[in-house]
Amino acid sequence: MEQYDFGMVGLGVMGRNLLFNIADHQYNVAGLDLDQGKVDALQNEATEKQIVKGTTKVDEFVKMLKTPRAIMLLVPAGKPVDGAIASLVPLLEKGDIIVDGGNSYFPDTDRRFKELSEKGIHFFGMGVSGGEEGARFGPSMMPGGDRDAYDRLKPIFEAVAAKVNGEPCVAYMGTGSAGHYVKMVHNGIEYGIMQLISEVYDLLKRGLKYSDDQLQQTFQDWNEGELKSFLLEITGIVLKKNDDETGKRLVEMISDVARAKGTGKWTSQNAMDIQAPVPVIDAAVSMRDLSKYKTERLQASEKLAWNNAANDSDEHGGLIEHVKKAYHFAMLTIYAQGLAQLQLASKEYNYGLNLAEVAKIWRGGCIIRSTSLEDFMHAFVKNPELPNIMLDDSIAATLLDTQEAARFTAKFAIDKGIAASALLSALSYFDAYRTAKLPTNLIQAQRDYFGAHTYERTDREGVFHTKWE
Ligand code: 6PG
Repeated sequence: MEQYDFGMVGLGVMGRNLLFNIADHQYNVAGLDLDQGKVDALQNEATEKQIVKGTTKVDEFVKMLKTPRAIMLLVPAGKPVDGAIASLVPLLEKGDIIVDGGNSYFPDTDRRFKELSEKGIHFFGMGVSGGEEGARFGPSMMPGGDRDAYDRLKPIFEAVAAKVNGEPCVAYMGTGSAGHYVKMVHNGIEYGIMQLISEVYDLLKRGLKYSDDQLQQTFQDWNEGELKSFLLEITGIVLKKNDDETGKRLVEMISDVARAKGTGKWTSQNAMDIQAPVPVIDAAVSMRDLSKYKTERLQASEKLAWNNAANDSDEHGGLIEHVKKAYHFAMLTIYAQGLAQLQLASKEYNYGLNLAEVAKIWRGGCIIRSTSLEDFMHAFVKNPELPNIMLDDSIAATLLDTQEAARFTAKFAIDKGIAASALLSALSYFDAYRTAKLPTNLIQAQRDYFGAHTYERTDREGVFHTKWE
């Protein structure tokens, strides 16, 4: 009975595909799902060369696995993870390993680690990125926590991970919930870049009156050279797709109410907790939230209608090159914010993150993979303590080279009345970060005025309070 090397709980799209990927590498794999349909799909889709078995019964599943057992959970974050763990634990033995591969909230991972280690069960959280395709043919994986347990499963994960220049996109991230924290910030960056791309699409479509074909071609072209990235690539593909029913581009038939499962929000929430400024990610979360208020927006589109006809597309003949540079500029600041958050979190939670490794495993397989990750990796190899990649010589040079175009594009958005909160926020972040003397001295003075909160002076040490009137 004990003949399977690896077990997967949750045979949804991600679980099933990752299991097939593992089976492709000569591991015998077993799957558990309470839904018989998903178990059938697993067994029916397996090829002759793959040794794959599914079941709906947890006791049968546990008995099928070689000991010490290696079990991965790919179930929705939250209660389903606790439910799966609770059903497995009574049947497991000391030394068995559970890996949570979902998008779990990192404090939950810390709690589960503690609860399971008290029972002698090894547990670690691992972010898995890349969607269905990634799971099947090579995801990026971010494990953290129980190092020994990870080392035991490392050969499996290295075999199935995406490869860049022959190097696997998986590496031990750090202690505790480091893996899930890194994945959370990955998703925050994902939200930021997706928001930015949607703003560019809007600027080109409504601002420059681009046709469907021009729009599609632009994103396809941008995905060449230095901007090459998965998110630009899929944008080009998405914009090409026609709707079978109407013959229009399918994207134009999709409701503008954006959904979210929470990882972007968690990134922003925790960034506030540890005082890591990530304003573009915050803006991306807010814009998805704002999209939800469709009825109000429809009312406002009439009540607050304003079209600046004075500024039309002809006037801005060469704008597209500026928009491209503006995208480059803002995209860099989004990575900068997320990576700076990781540097801070590493200290706050003693994760021991190595940012060069993070950038390295994000180069392939994951949703935010892009050619820029190679540059970020080099920046952190040069200086592992780099607090912000905007301080790296080569990235600073690119920012300086693109910032004027970003300003030009931002002004165009403002003049046109087209919301571009990621771009505007990226510019403000950049401008604030490069300002030696911010106006926050005034805030300190006001705080001292109304609340005697005290302030520090620029010319000598100490804490001061003034009777202002
Ligand atoms: C990934 C994705 C994946 C998931 C997003 C979607 O890295 O493969 O990030 O984990 O598709 O979390 O998130 P929202 O539903 O919140 O947009």
